Amino acid sequence: MRCTVIIPAAGSGTRFGSALPKQFVSLLGVPILVRTLQAIEQTSAVQNIVLAASPDFHSFIADLAQEYGITKIAAIIEGGKERQDSIFNALQTSICADSNVVLVHDAVRPFITSDFVESIIEAAWEHGAVVPGLVPKETIKECTEEGLVVATHERSRLRAIQTPQGFRREVLVSAYHKARQHGFLGTDDASVVECAGFPVHVVAGREENIKITTPLDFRWAEFLLR
Ligand code: CTP
Ligand code: MG
Repeated sequence: MRCTVIIPAAGSGTRFGSALPKQFVSLLGVPILVRTLQAIEQTSAVQNIVLAASPDFHSFIADLAQEYGITKIAAIIEGGKERQDSIFNALQTSICADSNVVLVHDAVRPFITSDFVESIIEAAWEHGAVVPGLVPKETIKECTEEGLVVATHERSRLRAIQTPQGFRREVLVSAYHKARQHGFLGTDDASVVECAGFPVHVVAGREENIKITTPLDFRWAEFLLR
């Protein structure tokens, strides 16, 4: 089985608000992206990493990989305007074409472990598409734009979805081509796959697998590492 992990790292971090995009910001001495790469590097079931990033940062990333001994980056490609465009570009590489399973994992989720990544690879191969999710701790309400509550959804049936999301390669490629044809734009990879009509399985996510989105998330991340 050949597995490639696509890491979208082409965002500009609007909600985070730092001059340097958040994926390159140092978290207790090590850039967030490097921490994420180290976890994938240590996962023996993964052969290759394809990184999507702004060309301004390609040589910087290559230098970081050298400095931290990251050997699995097989390609650094140009990101797109939306995250979905970044993934689409990554799927065009020959590295992805040679893989049985493709995982997509946000550059800004550094707290994954090898056993977790490996469980996603296995489930992806078995089911075709798999996402990790957590039952929300808070009650979730659907509202109108004017701020009126429309519905309160039963919490036990809801999931807050994380990455890595795993797919059989042909499922993901076919879904991304369909999305491009129909102009569908989703907020994660599974929504693209759902839109194409493939079933997506949910497995238990990990509470510590936070996405560093805002400055407060960064402080939680520091706290988790201390
Ligand atoms: N990403 C990407 N290409 C884009 C947008 C996002 O590769 N055009 C990546 C980000 O670099 C990040 C991941 O997708 O690793 C998750 O996105 P998010 O947390 O939303 O990061 P940003 O888009 O950078 O932040 P914001 O939405 O606050 O601007
Ligand atoms: Mg974003």
